[in-house]
Amino acid sequence: MANIGTDISRAAELLSQGELVAIPTETVYGLAANAYTEAAVLKIFEAKNRPSFDPLIVHTHSIQNFTQIATNIPDLAYRLAEAFMPGPLTLILPRAAQVPFLVTSGHDSVGVRIPNHALTLSLLKELPFPVAAPSANPFGYVSPTTAQHVNQQLGNRIPYILDGGACQVGIESTIISFADGEPEILRLGGLALEEIEKVLGKPILRVKTSSSNPQAPGMLSSHYAPRKKVMLGNINQLLQTHEPGKVGILSFSETFAQVPPAQQVQLSVTGDVYEAARNLFSGLRYLDAQPVDLILAELVPENGLGRAVNDRLRRAAF
Ligand code: TXA
Ligand code: MG
Repeated sequence: MANIGTDISRAAELLSQGELVAIPTETVYGLAANAYTEAAVLKIFEAKNRPSFDPLIVHTHSIQNFTQIATNIPDLAYRLAEAFMPGPLTLILPRAAQVPFLVTSGHDSVGVRIPNHALTLSLLKELPFPVAAPSANPFGYVSPTTAQHVNQQLGNRIPYILDGGACQVGIESTIISFADGEPEILRLGGLALEEIEKVLGKPILRVKTSSSNPQAPGMLSSHYAPRKKVMLGNINQLLQTHEPGKVGILSFSETFAQVPPAQQVQLSVTGDVYEAARNLFSGLRYLDAQPVDLILAELVPENGLGRAVNDRLRRAAF
């Protein structure tokens, strides 16, 4: 198993030596490597079993550093960065020459993000390079929101996990691409559309999400999936055709008397979509580990982070 701790110097040393370190962010835990060193980045793909066509996001601590990662950055991208970074937003921008194609999967664009987590921001400030980091889970599985989640799945493949506690947002960053000029949403995530549109002053385009659109493989139809089958619908109705003793329940707020309490997760008893986002992945992991045959789940209200929560639920159920 990996060492888990809060030693930033140790993490910096390992990253400088070309090793992998799992890092906390406000969204989910990332699996970081020196973004400028191909040999280090390659280890990410190996540890995750990640296909090489799925590009990585580059993480830095300040907007000033963007020109070391991207080039020809539009004013509007800077406006969004000023408004929301550090925060749960990733911008896809034209790639700067020093970022290896391995990071961008051969694309001429690169994802840039400033994570809003004190420990990781301190770490990034100690490093003379940015880090490439996907979510720290095996490819296709649910993203980790605690150091323990990372340790359970990747602990034997990485030397160190920087423990920053439970992630405060709980779902991955919202991705906005400037690759085609006008900003487009590639992935719904931890920054709500309403917030973005307030700054833009107009509706933002949403790229169609489908498995046939490889632009952001985070958009693949089957992604973020636990091992157990997830069925999405009206839970009361689903319970009429499934034995209550053998199912797990992932509800927004409600409890179901016919199902054992240990097999139920309420995403937010107060009906808060932000709390639901925070609890979503740990809830799916918990139910995945229960002695149940399948997981019955329902959508949450389609506002704020609710849209991104529902997006993850639909993919988990695909
Ligand atoms: O919140 C997050 O974004 C987390 C934390 C660790 O920062 N990271 C994360 O990384 O979710 P990952 O690799 O699991 O998802 C990143 C998504 C991928 O689906 C990838 O296809 C897309 O970002 N992406 C990265 N670079 C891209 C590019 N140049 N063009 C299009 N999509 C890109
Ligand atoms: Mg991921």
